[in-house]
Amino acid sequence: AIDINKLRDLTGAITLDPGYKNSGSCTSKITFLDGELGILRYRGYSIEDLAEKADFLEVSFLLIFGELPTAAQLKQFEVDIRKHTLVNEEMKNIIDGFPRTAHPMGVLAALTSALTAFNPKSVNVDNEKEMYHAVCKTMGKFLVIATWTYRKSMGYPLNYYDNTKGYVENFMRLMFELPTEPYKPNPIVIDALDKLFILHADHEQNCSTSTVRMVGSSHAGLFASISAGVSALWGPLHGGANQAVLEMLEEIHANGGDTDAYLAKAKDKNDPFRLMGFGHRVYKNFDPRAKIIKKAANEVLATLGVDDPILEIAKKLEAAALEDEYFKARNLYPNVDFYSGIIYRALGIPTDMFTVMFAIGRLPGWIAQWKEMRENKEPIGRPRQIYTGESLRDFKKPE
Ligand code: ACO
Repeated sequence: AIDINKLRDLTGAITLDPGYKNSGSCTSKITFLDGELGILRYRGYSIEDLAEKADFLEVSFLLIFGELPTAAQLKQFEVDIRKHTLVNEEMKNIIDGFPRTAHPMGVLAALTSALTAFNPKSVNVDNEKEMYHAVCKTMGKFLVIATWTYRKSMGYPLNYYDNTKGYVENFMRLMFELPTEPYKPNPIVIDALDKLFILHADHEQNCSTSTVRMVGSSHAGLFASISAGVSALWGPLHGGANQAVLEMLEEIHANGGDTDAYLAKAKDKNDPFRLMGFGHRVYKNFDPRAKIIKKAANEVLATLGVDDPILEIAKKLEAAALEDEYFKARNLYPNVDFYSGIIYRALGIPTDMFTVMFAIGRLPGWIAQWKEMRENKEPIGRPRQIYTGESLRDFKKPE
C-alpha cells in the first residue's frame, strides 16, 4: 500500500493561498504596480505620462514588444494590423445563431474562440515572425468582432474596417456607422476613448490576465487564451464592475439620489450588496487610473456639453464613502471602473458594451503577458490543493 505520509514528505509542503492574495505566479517585465503608493507603470513609463502623451497603438506596441515604437515602427504596426481586419464571412453564421438579447461579452468570448477554427495556423508561435503575425492578427480581428457584438444586438448590418482611418476611430465607425448615416468623427470622443483604452491596457496578474497566462501555459493558442480572458473579465467583481457601477448609479438616481441609503446597504454584512467600483485587491491607498478617469470624466462632459446627474451622484457617493469609517478602515477607494462608465455613457456607448470596452483596452496587455509567458518557457500552470473531503469509503449503492 502507498504510505501517504511518505509521499507527502517527497512532494513537499503545499502553501494554501485562496485567491492568490500573496502568491506570485511568475516574474514579469511588463507592468509595475505599487498598491500602497498608488503607482502604475507600463515598461517603466508612468501611466500619467502615457495617458497624456502616447496613443493606444503606441502603448500596445510598448507593452507587447517592450520599447516605445519609432515613428516608422508604429506606422508598420498599424499597416500590419490592418492586414488582419477582415473577418471570415462564415463567422457571420455563428453570429446569426445568437439571440439579439445575448450579452455582448458572451458573444465576444464565443467569437474570439471561434477565430481559432478559422485561423488554425495562428497557434504556431515558434519564432518571432509567427509571434508577430499572431499579435497583429489578434489586434485586428478582435476589434472588429467586438463591435459586431453590438451590431448584432441592435440588428444592424455588420461594418468593415476602413484602412484609411485610425484604430480607435475605426472602433467608433464600426459601432455606429449606418448605411444611411456616415459616422462623423469627433476628435474629443476619439481622444477620450484612446485615453480610456490606455488606462485599461495592462494591470499585471489580475484575474483575466492570470487566466490568459494559465490557459496559454498549456500551449493553447492566442485566440483560445484571449477568449478565456474575456470570460474572466466579464464577472462583476472584475471588468463587469463598470456596467454594474452605472446600473447602481442609475438606480440611486431613480430612487431619489439617496446615496446614504446605498452606503448603509454596502456596510450591512447581512446584505450581499457591495458598492460597485470601490475597493481593489492591490490598491490600498488609491487607484491612479481612477484619478485620471475622474478628471477626464469632468473634462469630457464639459467639452461635450453633457449635463449628467449621474456624475453628481457619483461624486456625492465618493465623497461620502471617503469620509466613512467602514470604507476608511478597509482602505476602500474608487477603482478604475467607478468613473469610466460615465464617460462611456457620454460618448454614446450602451451600458452592456462597457465591459467589451474594457476588453478592447486590455487586449494588448493580455497579448503581452501571453507572449512573455511563452517566451519565458513557463511550465504549465497547475496549482495544488489541500484535500478536505472524505477518506476512503467502501462502495455501496444507496438504497
Ligand atoms: N463595498 C463594500 N464593502 C467592500 C467592498 C465594496 N465595494 N469591497 C470590499 N469590501 C469589504 C469586504 O466586505 C471586506 O470586509 P470585511 O473585512 O469586514 O469582511 C473587506 O472590504 C475586504 O474585502 P475583500 O473582498 O476581502 O477584498 P478583495 O481584495 O478580495 O476584493 C474586490 C477586491 C473584488 C475588488 C472588492 O473590493 C469588490 O468586490 N469591489 C466591488 C467590485 C468592483 O468594483 N470590482 C472592480 C475591481 S477593479 C477591476 O477589476 C478592474
